Amino acid sequence: MSIVTPQEQVDFAENKQLLNRYRFVEHELLRALAGWLPATPQMELKLLMGRLIWEDAQHVQQLYQRLREIQTPAFRDPDDPALIGLMAEVIHAPSAQDLLAGLLRVLKPAMIEAYGWHMAQTFANPDAPTRYAFRHILLDEEEHVATGAEALAGHPPGEWERYIAGLLAAAGGITGLADRPPAPAAPTCRRAFVPPREAARDERFSLANRNPGKLIQAGDFASERLQEFESYSQEMLAAETVALVLYLSPTMPWEFIYNSARHCYDETRHCRLGIEWLAQHGFDYTSVPQNTRIYAWRSQYDPATQYCLLTMGNEKHVFPYRRKHLAAYRDAGDRLSTQYLSYDMADERQHVAYGRHWLPQLMRAHGIDRPVDQYVDEIVRLWEAEYRSGALPIHTPPEAALA
Ligand SMILES: [Fe+2]
Ligand SMILES: [Fe+2]
Repeated sequence: MSIVTPQEQVDFAENKQLLNRYRFVEHELLRALAGWLPATPQMELKLLMGRLIWEDAQHVQQLYQRLREIQTPAFRDPDDPALIGLMAEVIHAPSAQDLLAGLLRVLKPAMIEAYGWHMAQTFANPDAPTRYAFRHILLDEEEHVATGAEALAGHPPGEWERYIAGLLAAAGGITGLADRPPAPAAPTCRRAFVPPREAARDERFSLANRNPGKLIQAGDFASERLQEFESYSQEMLAAETVALVLYLSPTMPWEFIYNSARHCYDETRHCRLGIEWLAQHGFDYTSVPQNTRIYAWRSQYDPATQYCLLTMGNEKHVFPYRRKHLAAYRDAGDRLSTQYLSYDMADERQHVAYGRHWLPQLMRAHGIDRPVDQYVDEIVRLWEAEYRSGALPIHTPPEAALA
């Protein structure tokens, strides 16, 4: 009887262990991006982060789908304090650029190397579904690294990036299989992350903290249309709220994080849609004052209330106006505006559905035990009194810690 010794280095048990590590890294990475999205001043980086959050959520989803075929429960900690410590540390970056440098110039290149090695070392035919997932994840990761190199071209590698590289080495790399040098001490530039109560904007923008919740003013067709797309160019504010809710709700099921990653990405796309529409009509979006008070106002409430204000307040109530404008754009033969609104409305229908689906569980996760309908009515009344009125009162100062 002959016994064949296989050359493959990754066997069934190790496959599970490694996939747990990758799933964990992708998951924590998107959480760090979500936490930082509101705190990042540069609009270009915010737009990039929205896309990364969604695409990294896709990677978690693909790894999860494979993991649930080979282990129960599908979600498990990587059982490696050094890796858990690394992923807890990445968020304490001194700036958004440093955060992104740690993620895009240190972690992701190492992930690409690990996934490529894993693909070559797992049993090719028996483990074909894992290799299929890697092939597709790698397309994104390679693009993320290239985009990161470009976006951070003006940001030389600094001590934060070296620190993250040191922590990664101390965890034995992404696979955990490399030699583990001692972990480096935290550099003095480390800044303990605090969930942002204010939405950061860079110095190009002016802030409009007046009448922010008011409806589009009735006017002629051209001015109403301009107002609508100026308003789109500020939808980063919705992305920032969804990102904060996602970050502050770690006990929610993965499917909620997955939907919220998409919700957040959609709002960054709506923001980009406004930016592009303005550019196509000769306007510079940075000259539109940003109503960052909307975020400051929403962020004073617990995450379930923030989510309810957004989905059952803003998103649910936007349809009559959008439908009216859609008809007007169609009548005017304005195909560009018609197309942009049609896609936006398709997304917004999903967002309202997310709200209806997740609110009961999100309420429980944040300690609200009132009947759901009664709670939603109450929050919509709050939205009418505080948002629709344009008052946006701040009851809890931004210095106060979030729950
Ligand atoms: Fe939107
Ligand atoms: Fe939305």
